[in-house]
Amino acid sequence: MATNHSSSDLNSDVNNGEDFRVHVFSSSSELLEKLHEKWNSGKEQPYPAMYSSVFGGIILDPVMMVIPVDDHMVHRGHGVFDTAIILDGHLYELDVHLDRFLRSASNAKISSPFPRSTLRTILIQLAATSQCRKGTLRYWLSAGPGDFLLTPGGCPTPAFYAIAIKEDFLQCKEGMKVITSNIPMKQPQFATMKNVNYLPNVLSKMEAEEKGAFASIWVDDEGFIAEGPNMNVAFITHDKELILPLFDKILGGCTALRLLELATKLVEQGRLKSVKTGNLTVGEAKSAAEMMYVGSTLPILPIIMWDDNPIGDGKVGELTMALSDLLWDDMVAGPETHRLPVPY
Ligand SMILES: Cc1ncc(COP(=O)(O)O)c(C=O)c1O
Repeated sequence: MATNHSSSDLNSDVNNGEDFRVHVFSSSSELLEKLHEKWNSGKEQPYPAMYSSVFGGIILDPVMMVIPVDDHMVHRGHGVFDTAIILDGHLYELDVHLDRFLRSASNAKISSPFPRSTLRTILIQLAATSQCRKGTLRYWLSAGPGDFLLTPGGCPTPAFYAIAIKEDFLQCKEGMKVITSNIPMKQPQFATMKNVNYLPNVLSKMEAEEKGAFASIWVDDEGFIAEGPNMNVAFITHDKELILPLFDKILGGCTALRLLELATKLVEQGRLKSVKTGNLTVGEAKSAAEMMYVGSTLPILPIIMWDDNPIGDGKVGELTMALSDLLWDDMVAGPETHRLPVPY
């Protein structure tokens, strides 16, 4: 059987791999037995249910939660995705995520096998079937399976996949360190749609982790602050203004948009002076009083160090936590216009 090899193993392969024998599965039952062994290893199954339009239904067996290898999302990256949080048995901001999902699909020239209302129903039924009360739904629209060419002319039907994932996320209260990314950010056309080409994002986060930071900050080619590898970023100036970078070159985060709405409460209370989006230079951003990441599962992550310089007094900001509380309360107990009860 194939085993994992480190790169040094690969370089010191003295037999030129000649003694390696590839196992051939003689039947699908032999393969299924082996795959079930892996999932039955005692660990809790983190994926309680998956939907596939290719299969035409919901799959409960993790072994069968697969995507065809000739799907253009797999071998050409011709796919888009989105998420939605399940918290306390409710789907948070499902409609906002679904709207962005369909905008991404349209920009990527991917059609949907179903109208929006059916996609929504499938996601709600998937959440209900999964019995998951805390976790995420992740879903993809793909050009679909068909062949290995570049364009999808040979793919008869686009595909929709979705999976329920059990995840235990909590409100983030600890301050984190970030670095400026050295990995080039995506061009606006690609950064503004949530497509599956996340290699720059992966490498950018890996670079940060290798340098002992939580994640990175992208700066655009005009020198303005952009976003993190899978979250937006926000700042509070010494004048108590909340500023988020404009969404014209980055992903319009659903959490960031909700934050802009909710933060007006702090303006009404006189704790913030204003709430806005705008261009911020690196110098302006680094001299902010408070800084934070904003994204679905966080929902706010305080940032206290950037490229080894403290932000503000180097401690978790009071207004950052006030914004975090506003978002967290909205996620766990907000109005039903933003929280959809899952019909378990
Ligand atoms: C590149 C990027 N920016 C921002 C975000 C934040 O978006 P949201 O608040 O919708 O999770 C994400 C989330 O996946 C992302 O991938």
